[in-house]
Amino acid sequence: MMPFLSKHGRVMDLLPQIILILDDRGRIVDSNRTASETFGLRRGTGAVTDVRTLLAAEEPQEVAQIIGTTAVVDMQEHRFVRSDRVAIDVRFEIKPLPGPKEHLRVFIGQDVTQEKQRDLDLLRFSNVIQHTINPIQITDASGKMVYVNPAFERASGYRREELIGQNPRLLSSGRHDRAFWAGVWSHILAGKVWVGKIENKRKDGTEFFSELVISPIVNPAGTVVGFLGAHRDITEQIILEQQLVRSQRLESIGTLAAGIAHEVGNPLTAISSLVQVLQRTVQDKFATEKLGLISSQINRITKIIRDLVDFSRPSTHVAKPTDLNQVINDALNIVRYGKKVKDITFDLDLDAKLPPIRIVPDQIVQVFINILMNAVDAIDGQAGKINITSRSIDGGIDVNISDTGKGIPPGELEKIFEPFYTTKGVGQGTGLGLWVSYGIVKSFEGDILVESVRGQGSRFIVRLPHR
Ligand SMILES: Nc1ncnc2c1ncn2[C@@H]1O[C@H](COP(=O)(O)OP(=O)(O)OP(=O)(O)O)[C@@H](O)[C@H]1O
Ligand SMILES: [Mg+2]
Repeated sequence: MMPFLSKHGRVMDLLPQIILILDDRGRIVDSNRTASETFGLRRGTGAVTDVRTLLAAEEPQEVAQIIGTTAVVDMQEHRFVRSDRVAIDVRFEIKPLPGPKEHLRVFIGQDVTQEKQRDLDLLRFSNVIQHTINPIQITDASGKMVYVNPAFERASGYRREELIGQNPRLLSSGRHDRAFWAGVWSHILAGKVWVGKIENKRKDGTEFFSELVISPIVNPAGTVVGFLGAHRDITEQIILEQQLVRSQRLESIGTLAAGIAHEVGNPLTAISSLVQVLQRTVQDKFATEKLGLISSQINRITKIIRDLVDFSRPSTHVAKPTDLNQVINDALNIVRYGKKVKDITFDLDLDAKLPPIRIVPDQIVQVFINILMNAVDAIDGQAGKINITSRSIDGGIDVNISDTGKGIPPGELEKIFEPFYTTKGVGQGTGLGLWVSYGIVKSFEGDILVESVRGQGSRFIVRLPHR
């Protein structure tokens, strides 16, 4: 066998590729060190191996044919068997060997087994990420998003094209302050995993809550090259929790307020009758006038007390199947004659096919009166519109009352159902209206939902289920 020596020694022994010199019958006439080690070829012994015997058994006949003949072979990949019987994937090409011996060919190959395994791992990984229900985002080291999965698109309402290249700040709800984010950054930049709950904002401005895990992506050299953020959408859970907290809080305040009202009610009745006694006996003009004032203030307190006590007392009315449109009309007829209503247009869109619903009309009418009066107050003597719709929904009825009034600031939305929360002047409102309304609607297992844009108006949805 003729070793291919140059005057610098066997250069090909230094190469990491598998190099085989083949004759026109497919026999290996020489090989470099990598090839010999891989396939266990004994060099310089005169033993000749046919290259076809190195192919894995599962490789088709045609493959053996082309490597075994004089063919030139373009880059392709086939399976071979190592000397230790382990199959490996080799990417190779076969070229004619330049030089006087025209019939010789050189096989240049590379073991790509590990690379293929990595590709497969990557494919599996990206499939999992692509199909998981968890919203996932990947950013580069500067925090710009380089990947988001379909679940992330769904949760955020943005399309992938709108997110790639952007900072995740795009989704910030503004709920967490600078110090909060600084804390997150210093944590992850130190290469540690951050876990927490955050509030985000969708493209349409609504909020979504997620439990977020941010892990730094570290390259083999230990440098942070990006971050992986995996969210768990907990919006529904948070909303339920908030509702629960709200109704529990209202309930406990209710019990407390009713207790106080009861205690205050008795002395108040006493004061009231004493004032009446004095009014009957006193002649003095000054005293009479002051007693009149005292009596009107007592009436105001009495009304508040009555509201509070009413709220906590189980209803003595009986629920009966009722046409809710009729109740809405009754409420509207009461509200319509107020002083501040003259420049307001009422837009009524009631579903004529509404099925009857079991409620206590006297109580529900109060709810609508209060919400309508609030709407009128919010428009505040200006020209405006109040829109009322009723709709049959799955399992119940939705009544929608929207106004073009001043709206409610986001931070106040949760407070409006609390007793005594009012933005109205003394004597204008006690802040009990919505609290009482909410209690009534809850007693029918319904709910009141609010949406509002400051400066544009508010929408109250009274949702009553069929029971
Ligand atoms: N449609 C609305 N537009 C703007 N703000 C509203 C609207 N409805 C309610 N609010 C706000 O919620 C507060 C509480 O309303 P609620 O009906 O409980 O009490 P109130 O109207 O102030 O007093 P009252 O006990 O006389 O009803 C109001 O003072 C107002 O600030
Ligand atoms: Mg009110």
